[in-house]
Amino acid sequence: MRDEIESTEYEGLFPVLYDLLHPSAPEADAYARLARERDGDLLELGCGTGRLVVPLARAGIEVWGLDLYRDMLDACRAKLERESPSVRERVTLVEGDTRTFTLPRTFPLITAPCNFLDNLLGADDLLQTFRSAARHLADDGLFVVDSSAPDLPAMVAADGQEQVGEFTHPDTGRRLVSRFTPRFDFVRQIETDDITLEELEGDVVVRRARTTMTVTWHHPREIEAALGAAGLEAVGTYGSVDRRPMRARGGDMVHFARRARP
Ligand SMILES: C[S@@+](CC[C@H](N)C(=O)[O-])C[C@H]1O[C@@H](n2cnc3c(N)ncnc32)[C@H](O)[C@@H]1O
Repeated sequence: MRDEIESTEYEGLFPVLYDLLHPSAPEADAYARLARERDGDLLELGCGTGRLVVPLARAGIEVWGLDLYRDMLDACRAKLERESPSVRERVTLVEGDTRTFTLPRTFPLITAPCNFLDNLLGADDLLQTFRSAARHLADDGLFVVDSSAPDLPAMVAADGQEQVGEFTHPDTGRRLVSRFTPRFDFVRQIETDDITLEELEGDVVVRRARTTMTVTWHHPREIEAALGAAGLEAVGTYGSVDRRPMRARGGDMVHFARRARP
């Protein structure tokens, strides 16, 4: 039995779980519309396994995807291998850190979808990422940040509770069992997740991956303040990428920002 300990849920066997937990990309059409309105390419911060990259490239958008973890990018590359050459040619993948990256060009649309910000634990990490985005944003470009709004009652209820999921491995056909236990430090805004993923042949575990992952959550005013400090200006906060109103509890929290005007 292979027993693996990973530092994050973005390595080893875990990218497979990511795709099983996020099988669709309902917001891809809205991102494609924003890109077409700007008649230009899109840079996705923390593009992961290409949940959005692939449908956007299929829709004719030129997509650049930046991610820190090679295993996530490799999963994206494997998906692109199954696409037509024209879809593949529209995608540029870059291994890098959103806090420090430098690309040789600017973009009319930069996105940070699907709770990417949760990975930015320190106030400086958020600020550095937003500064990097500002440096790569075209003069009239749009920066879209999509995260889940913190649902504190739901987090209190989930605190310390193990959640078990069962899936089928898409390549091996074997049963996968995930165990996820979140713990919340509500003062420091830190969530520590113990995650175990087992791959079984019959009843025998053939591979086990474990990680203890630390993430955070942000409230809208923190995001708006960090955007402002990074030379960006929040121009709208919505409940979806297609600009439906934000809910008072839970749901999505989508910030639209542009470069601050003097
Ligand atoms: C929640 S996933 C989102 C993936 C993808 N955007 C999506 O919509 O499915 C967050 C991604 O951010 C990446 N990531 C975490 N910290 C990062 C950093 N500092 N710089 C670049 N990527 C990072 C992880 O590897 C992961 O792929």
